[in-house]
Amino acid sequence: MLKNKKQIDEVIYKFIGKKGPLIPLLQEIQSLEGYLSKETMRYVADKSGIHLAKIYGVATFYSMFQLKPQGKHIVRICKGTACHVAGANIISDTLCNELGLKEGEESSEDGLFTVMEVACLGCCGLAPAMMIDKDVHGKLTPEKTRLVIHEIRQAEGASHES
Ligand code: FES
Repeated sequence: MLKNKKQIDEVIYKFIGKKGPLIPLLQEIQSLEGYLSKETMRYVADKSGIHLAKIYGVATFYSMFQLKPQGKHIVRICKGTACHVAGANIISDTLCNELGLKEGEESSEDGLFTVMEVACLGCCGLAPAMMIDKDVHGKLTPEKTRLVIHEIRQAEGASHES
């Protein structure tokens, strides 16, 4: 069941008949739904007349599109050369342990975090580094990594209470 069917219809109607609208169309729909589920892609194909294979092809090709539900906070852990040499694997293991992620899992059960690996965050001097939403955290140690996650969880807990 789509959460925002009416708004999705409005987005589709806005783009119908325009040339090459697929990426911005899917971006707007993803911003409404949080990600592009198979059901959403099927719905967009039916409503817009755009072939489902084309929608699926674009959604799976570009990393900006998410095909699974995402946590509230996106953690980009750098696995680039500078970070790798500085201990990115230890930071990654610490992060996964802290978030309770098992092999192959990306999102924490509490729905707060989704972890993605990236090739470089553009701040190699701060290796090992990760970015949470728009904030870069560098010169990470296991202790510092746990602290960052703890602080976000505390802030989330505080925001639930208010
Ligand atoms: S390699 Fe990690 S920030 Fe560049």
